[in-house]
Amino acid sequence: MKQQLSQKPGPIGIFDSGYGGLTILSKIREALPQYDYIYLGDNARTPYGSRSFEIVYEFTRQAVTKLFEMGCHLVILACNTASAKALRSIQINDLPNMDPQRRVLGVIRPTVECVGQITQSRHVGVLATAGTIHSESYPLEIHKLFPDIRVSGEACPMWVPLVENNEAYGAGADFFIEKYIDRLLRQDYHIDTVILGCTHYPLLLPKIKHYMPDGMAIISQGEYVAASLKDYLLRHPEMVAKCTQGGECSFCTTEAEEKFVESASAFLHRPVTVQRVTLE
Ligand code: DGL
Repeated sequence: MKQQLSQKPGPIGIFDSGYGGLTILSKIREALPQYDYIYLGDNARTPYGSRSFEIVYEFTRQAVTKLFEMGCHLVILACNTASAKALRSIQINDLPNMDPQRRVLGVIRPTVECVGQITQSRHVGVLATAGTIHSESYPLEIHKLFPDIRVSGEACPMWVPLVENNEAYGAGADFFIEKYIDRLLRQDYHIDTVILGCTHYPLLLPKIKHYMPDGMAIISQGEYVAASLKDYLLRHPEMVAKCTQGGECSFCTTEAEEKFVESASAFLHRPVTVQRVTLE
């Protein structure tokens, strides 16, 4: 830790490799509008989905450090790849040295908790980045809670670029959306519930629904992460006391400001102002 961390209350930090975490931020702000938030997107180094464990861990650790330095006591990794590859290491290796009272939470556990109540067939599919699928984090977390559920995963390497390049609603998106859904369902014809295990995928939801069989339950994680955070804060009044409550949200990016403003406005449907930061 390069500088002494402030013990004053601060905003809740929301981190993603890029823009996808904005889908989580929106749901969190709907559920908990009273808090202040800082959103940090590592847009200069996105995507994380195809990067190694070491790199995702290093980049995520830098982002958490930055958010702590900016006054956050609680940071949500609103990125499945970072949650899969870096959360546990940060919690175990880094938090004790940074500040054992601060907290970093991910998005996989809250998403997985609801699955047992939703699937009837006990056959669940996961669509996510290659990094998240290969980490096996979803099957591992699901089996901790629901050992009877069979989990199949399919990496969708083209979906994040479709969203990042504003092609989510374009005709070209259909080919890749159908392709990965088809591959997942071919692995197990009994799947009745599919988890969208990537923060970008809610932006593809209309087309994903179109290519899913009738009756398929599709779990879009934003609302589950928001509900889980609400519950966490109810159980942790000591953390509530460290989170400022002014209803404000500020945005930081590692990319050029104007690029973030243009793309984030498309995600949030309103203009934003943003500050450029460096992670190291
Ligand atoms: N935010 C990432 C996730 O949820 C997707 C984008 C990336 O690959 O960096 O996995």
